[in-house]
Amino acid sequence: MPSTLLEKELIEAIAKTYGTPVYVYSREEILKRISTVKDVFSSVNLFPTFACKANNNPRIIEMFKDNGFGADIVSIGEYHACKLADVDDKKIVWNGNGKTRKEIEILSKKVGYVNIDSEEEYEIWSEIDSSAEFFLRVNPDVDAKTHPHISTGLKKSKFGIQTDEIDRILSKKRLNISGFHVHIGSQITDVEPFEEAISKVVDLSKKYGFSKINIGGGWGIKYKDKELDILEYKERIVPYLKDFKMVILELGRYMIAPAGLLVLKVEYVKKTRHKTFVVLDGGMNVLMRPAMYNAYHEVNVLDPESSEKYIIDVVGPLCESGDIIAFERNLEIPKVGSYVIVRDVGAYGYSMSNNYNSMPRPAEVIVYEENGKYDFRLIRRREEIEEMFKTIV
Ligand code: LLP
Repeated sequence: MPSTLLEKELIEAIAKTYGTPVYVYSREEILKRISTVKDVFSSVNLFPTFACKANNNPRIIEMFKDNGFGADIVSIGEYHACKLADVDDKKIVWNGNGKTRKEIEILSKKVGYVNIDSEEEYEIWSEIDSSAEFFLRVNPDVDAKTHPHISTGLKKSKFGIQTDEIDRILSKKRLNISGFHVHIGSQITDVEPFEEAISKVVDLSKKYGFSKINIGGGWGIKYKDKELDILEYKERIVPYLKDFKMVILELGRYMIAPAGLLVLKVEYVKKTRHKTFVVLDGGMNVLMRPAMYNAYHEVNVLDPESSEKYIIDVVGPLCESGDIIAFERNLEIPKVGSYVIVRDVGAYGYSMSNNYNSMPRPAEVIVYEENGKYDFRLIRRREEIEEMFKTIV
């Protein structure tokens, strides 16, 4: 995304054209991230997929597809998004600990890969005629040192098969298993837990003679200070993967979080004796992460009243005290009617938005560079009020 003045002009043009709240993605930033990932794994047989749960816009999924990525899905809804993006079935990896019987019936002859989460799920697949390749999701009992809600690799987590159950499951021989899958959590900023988990699963793969492996996603980006050191990851992790015939990767956040901005309008600046609140036209309905995980997202004021900074709460319009975008942040006071941008929301932003307080979901726009100039295009229009009630009978 262009910065400073150019960014301001562009954001205002987008906000005026399509209204707010609006998500804005940078095509260039996404492409840059795609090439970084390819570079990190250039010495291995990589099959990269984009984790659609991070962003389910088919126009975004399509960009990944056009650059050689497959897709990691967790529902029929995400499968549908992939079809709108024209992703080849054979390049779709299906994850999830609760795949329903109905979903299995529908997707069993479609998706290319399935990560089996439990022995119980193994039983179901062994009775079904499927064209998919199967991987067993292993729970390596590793602490990802991330937010507990997005940590998935500890033995008490609901995900995966315990290592001491593998022998029993594989000895059933009712399914042809291609390899192991491991994903220990999201927003991981240390290489250490990756190394612990991946080395364990690589050892297991050798023990059972598997030449394919799925190493999940989880790369942590810089929201505030810490981020995963990609070079260190390349040095320490990639050597483990060299002998594999196929290394499946399922990155979501890293691929797109920093490529996305959320633009909101300042409706009120409310000054009380205790606090100053900047009230925006969207809150936890458009961006859940701060309310749900106390997540930090950088906020920028585009049009300040003055350059002086104050400790302020940036909040949404919903009827909940937890409806917060930024808590006690040192910021300029914006002008009423001007715009505020929230950064690093390309992943788990729109895809976690909702209709709480009967607010329609926002629009999404992509910014791209053409002939040295920035232009933008709508990739999802704003939801209409009537659409929220289409399901009422
Ligand atoms: N593979 C599996 C099996 C996953 O469960 C996930 C994310 C990914 C790949 C992609 O992980 P990533 O590269 O994006 O870290 N809503 C939370 C994040 C939840 C992540 C769920 N699983 C948030 O807003 O931080």
